[in-house]
Amino acid sequence: MDKLIVQGRKRLVGEVSISGAKNAAVAVIPAAIMAEGVSVLENLPSIEDVRSLCHTIEKLGGKCTYQDQHTLQIDCGDGIDYRATFEEVQKIRASYYFLGALLARYKKAEVALPGGCNFGVRPIDLHLKGFRALGATVEEGNGMVKAYADRLVGTSIYMDQVSVGATINIMLAATMAEGVTTIENAAKEPHVVDTANYLNMMGANIKGAGTDVIRIRGVEKLRGAQYTIIPDQIEAGTYMIAAAITGGDVLVKNIIPKHMDSLTAKLDEMNVTIEEHDDSIRVTANRPLHGANVKTMSYPGFPTDLQPQIAALLSVCSGSSVITENVWENRYQYIDELRKLGAQVEIDGRIARIQGVEHLHGAQVSATDLRAGAAMILAALAAEGESEIDGVKYIDRGYENVEHKFNALGAKITRIQV
Ligand code: UD1
Repeated sequence: MDKLIVQGRKRLVGEVSISGAKNAAVAVIPAAIMAEGVSVLENLPSIEDVRSLCHTIEKLGGKCTYQDQHTLQIDCGDGIDYRATFEEVQKIRASYYFLGALLARYKKAEVALPGGCNFGVRPIDLHLKGFRALGATVEEGNGMVKAYADRLVGTSIYMDQVSVGATINIMLAATMAEGVTTIENAAKEPHVVDTANYLNMMGANIKGAGTDVIRIRGVEKLRGAQYTIIPDQIEAGTYMIAAAITGGDVLVKNIIPKHMDSLTAKLDEMNVTIEEHDDSIRVTANRPLHGANVKTMSYPGFPTDLQPQIAALLSVCSGSSVITENVWENRYQYIDELRKLGAQVEIDGRIARIQGVEHLHGAQVSATDLRAGAAMILAALAAEGESEIDGVKYIDRGYENVEHKFNALGAKITRIQV
C-alpha cells in the first residue's frame, strides 16, 4: 500500500507532457480483440487500468506484447474465449467493453461486472438495452452479464440519457451487425471519436462520431490496425488546475487544446492567464483568483472527471462558488477529505457550496477514488505544511508517473511503501 507525502506551498513552473487518454485506451484495447489480425496501439498511458485489460486479454487467450512502455501489440487473430468471467475483469469498470466487442465478434459474450471507482449507482441498463435492440438475448445475475445472438441486426437506438460507455459499447456491438445502426442522443466525448476512428481504421464503417447521431453500417470482419491514442483531456486538465492552484506557470504539452475549452473558459473567468498554442496550453496564475460556478455536463460541457480538482482550486479562490454535479449522483465523498485540509464546503444533494479560504493546511487524507485522489494532490500542493495521502492505488489507475511529473515541475512529492 503506497502513500504520497506532499510538501505544500510549492509553486509549479515548467513543462509537462500529457500521456495518452485513459478513457480512450480502455475502450480501444477491448476493441482490438474484434480483429482477425494484429493491432499496434501507440501512445497508451502506462497505468494500472491498461495493464489490467492486457491481463484480461491474455487470460482469454490473446497475445499482448509491449514494444515499448507506450506501444502495445495485440494479437487475437487465432480467436479467444468469449467468457471473461474471472476476478481480474471486475477490477476495472471499462471491462464492460468486452461485452460489446465479444458480442460483435462471436455473437456471444459472458463478462463479470463491474469494478472501478465507486461514486454512486453505476447502471449499465442502456448498454444492455442497446444489445437487445440489436437482437441479443441478455441475462444478468451473480455479478455476470451473458449475451447471445444468432444474428445481430442494425436498428435505430435512441439513448434515454447521454452515456459514454453505452454509446461506445453499442457502437462496438453494431460494427459487425447486419445493416445500419443509428445511435441517437449519442455521447460526443473525444474518446467516443477516438474509438470510432480506430474501428474505422480496422475496416468498420462508422460516421458521425463526435455528433449526437452516429451511423454504423455493419461490415463482415475487421483487420488489425496501427493506431495512436489521443492525449488525456483529464490528465491535462489536472495539470492545468495544478498550475492555477500553486500560483504557477506551466506549459501543458502534447494535448488537443479544443478538448480543454470548457476548462480554459472557466479558468479564464477565474482570472487565470491562458495562452493557447497548436498542441499545448500555457497556464499562468499571477493575479488573485476569484470563485466561479461550475456545472458538470457531458462533452463539450465541463467534465465530471475534473469536478474534484476544480473543487480543490475553488476552495482557495476568493468569494463563494457553487458546483452542480449533473452526471453522477454521489461524487462528493471526497469532500470530507478536502475539509481535513481546511476547505469550507457545504453539500446539498448534487450541489457543493464552497467558501474560499486564504490557505489550506497539511493533513492526513485518503484518495477515495481516482479523480478525488488527484484533487488531494492539488490541495496538498497548495496547503501550508506537509500532507500524507493514502489510497494511492486509485491514483495509479489513471495517472502515469504521477509524482515524477509533478516533481519535474518543482513539487516535492515522495512515495512511501507502508
Ligand atoms: C465514463 C468515464 C468516466 C466519466 C463518465 C462521465 C470511462 C471508462 N469512464 O464512464 O470516467 O466519469 O463517463 O463522463 O470512459 N447511466 C445510466 N445507464 C447506463 C449507463 C449510464 O443510467 O446504462 C447514467 C450513469 O448513472 C450516469 C450517466 O448515465 O449518471 C453517465 O454515465 P456514463 O457516461 O455511461 O459513464 P461511464 O461510461 O460509465
